Amino acid sequence: MIQRLLKFLDASPVNFFAVKNLSEELLKAGFRRLNPQEPIGKVQAGDKFFVTKNDSSIYAFQIGSKPLADAGFRMICAHCDSPTFRVKPNAEIGCEGGIVKLNTEVYGGPIMSTWFDRPLTLAGRVIVKGEDVMNPRTLLLHVKRPLLQISNLAIHFNREVNDGVKLSKQKDMLPILGIINNELEQGNLLMNLICEELAIQREDILDFDLYLADAMPACTFGVHNELISSGRLDDLSMCYAGLEALLGSPEADVTKVLAIFDNEETGSQTKQGAGSPFLGSMLKRIAWAQSGTEEAFYQAVERAFMVSADNAHAWHPNYSEKYDPTNHPVLGGGPVIKFNAAQKYASDAVSAAVFAEICRKAGVPSQRFVNHSDVAGGSTLGNILASSIPLRGVDMGNAILAMHSCRETGSVADHTYCVKAFTQFFSGMA
Ligand code: CO
Repeated sequence: MIQRLLKFLDASPVNFFAVKNLSEELLKAGFRRLNPQEPIGKVQAGDKFFVTKNDSSIYAFQIGSKPLADAGFRMICAHCDSPTFRVKPNAEIGCEGGIVKLNTEVYGGPIMSTWFDRPLTLAGRVIVKGEDVMNPRTLLLHVKRPLLQISNLAIHFNREVNDGVKLSKQKDMLPILGIINNELEQGNLLMNLICEELAIQREDILDFDLYLADAMPACTFGVHNELISSGRLDDLSMCYAGLEALLGSPEADVTKVLAIFDNEETGSQTKQGAGSPFLGSMLKRIAWAQSGTEEAFYQAVERAFMVSADNAHAWHPNYSEKYDPTNHPVLGGGPVIKFNAAQKYASDAVSAAVFAEICRKAGVPSQRFVNHSDVAGGSTLGNILASSIPLRGVDMGNAILAMHSCRETGSVADHTYCVKAFTQFFSGMA
């Protein structure tokens, strides 16, 4: 099971690839792709389908044996974007000696220092001329070799480097792409590379969304291979646990929904983010297609339960003072239920009790997280979604170390636990 997760992580350097890989697994499992531009058509018990938005968010539905109005739906949501650096337009900066560096801007909140001195690559989408102006074609690009590096300043130029360094996003974080061989390459290094990788002509390229990604594969480590080292565990590990549960759970009375959003790391307020009305509209259309009434949707929402799955902070052996004195989840301790008095998390005593019981039924331990009261902490999907669709639900996630590092640390056992808990959740009333 862990090998499948590692493979998914490696094959998903950015959101677009995560959605493509999830789509392919859903197709293999008999889900059909719906085109949201077309009517939904007839919806029957056992139907399995999915839609995507912007090629960077994906929503899968498995219709339950009971009507939505009677059994509601069970939803697991997660996000497929992760902190990184986006390549700016006109990105090439030619320097002394023919060195070319790329102009980038920060996406989300990475721990920037972790991006230094490691082999990086490029991944994302390239937009090329299509049939007409309104419908250009999209090609995905993942350069599968070390291509770039953001090199540190030598310690001899900065003796205070180990006392904490302030980093400029514009000055310090620009990666080196290579050294030009001749004048013709001047200003063309990136475009030449894209043309070569995708076997296309320069004049066909209209634009791109390209991001930096770790070029080294995910791996397990530890004496017992009990830990995971990978970029993007937040939140691809939860996306994949959701998929494993969707495909591995039996047909149920409830309707199962797996919703993977984009842009959580920048606040979710996009058409493909958790702040978008898209998922709510899809659910409404499905309920209408099944029952012929709008009422069915509202009843389904009232019977629904949402698991907002986003990684939590594991207790760090070097920084125990940062954690709440009585609630500090550990690696390998099972799914973490997150609470926040200011309601940054959707969990309350009722929804937490429901989810903890689901874990218990699945034979899985669960843990509880609250922030140290002097530490602000983060936010996530649950409440953003619940403010547009009033769903009862819980915020949870597997505990990891070094959240938003270029390589985070997770636990192998927690992945198995999470898949079991999600499978139980998707098994419906049984
Ligand atoms: Co996250």
